[in-house]
Amino acid sequence: MPILDRFNLTGRRALITGGSRGLGLEMARALGEAGAELIIAGSDETHLQNALTTLQAKGLHVTSIQADLSQPSEAERLCDILLRDHPPIDILINNVGGRRINTPTEDLALEDWQRILDLNLTQAFILTKRIGGAMIPRKWGRIINIASINALWPGKAMRGRSYETSKAALTMFTKAVAADWAMHGITVNAIAPGPFLTDANKRWIGERPEFEGEVATSIPMGRWGSPEEIGPLALYLASDASSYMTGSLLIIDGGKLLW
Ligand SMILES: NC(=O)c1ccc[n+]([C@@H]2O[C@H](COP(=O)([O-])OP(=O)(O)OC[C@H]3O[C@@H](n4cnc5c(N)ncnc54)[C@H](OP(=O)(O)O)[C@@H]3O)[C@@H](O)[C@H]2O)c1
Repeated sequence: MPILDRFNLTGRRALITGGSRGLGLEMARALGEAGAELIIAGSDETHLQNALTTLQAKGLHVTSIQADLSQPSEAERLCDILLRDHPPIDILINNVGGRRINTPTEDLALEDWQRILDLNLTQAFILTKRIGGAMIPRKWGRIINIASINALWPGKAMRGRSYETSKAALTMFTKAVAADWAMHGITVNAIAPGPFLTDANKRWIGERPEFEGEVATSIPMGRWGSPEEIGPLALYLASDASSYMTGSLLIIDGGKLLW
């Protein structure tokens, strides 16, 4: 098969959680341009509508579903809809995550700790169990979990540590499920992004403008990642091009972890 054909996703359907903005939107665009039918999920209806407009303007086939994935019950509801109205799903990108708080561990409330674990880990478990589980009888599937370099390295300016802990757990969950499901033709890999200039980070920069330059100078490439730079890596993991890769954590960080 010609090499570029191995990246072709025609006939595949992909779910991208958090596909309405940031890294999720760019991964959706990459998979869509490679031929996949897209389903994007997010919590804010306006963001979803904006993303639909953007992706449809490129001629892509895309559907959106609203769900607040910080709530396990909402993740279950999303799975109910997907399994009832949109089967089969061949590619699952568990991209939703974040932290939103910067409270020191000694002051962190249990409910805030739990909320961050639910947002970064529990919903990915629910979607993997139900959407990934439905891939088993079909003997082909791709699951991509969006972790972070903070799965490997505690950020100096970060507080609370629930974010790093949940991303490290998501990484080990990736490896364990990859081992369990390799025999079913399902690959499970994770991506560890370094600093990318998305809305989440623009918010931190808005609160402390010097943060933008501090981070850039801490990266060997001397700059933040641009969201579209993650698209080709997601496409590789979503396609037949990565047929012999499973249980891996792929770092994309401009060399940040080298220093
Ligand atoms: N950006 C980085 O530098 C960086 C670095 C390492 C890892 N990551 C990881 O990469 C992933 C994406 O990050 P990002 O920077 O692209 O984030 P972002 O710009 O904040 O976008 C997050 C996406 O997730 C959706 N989302 C957020 N909370 C949600 C919820 N409770 N339920 C459903 N959807 C929700 C958002 O849609 P709505 O607004 O509509 O809810 C949006 O589509 C996250 O897992 C993050 O931890 C990012």
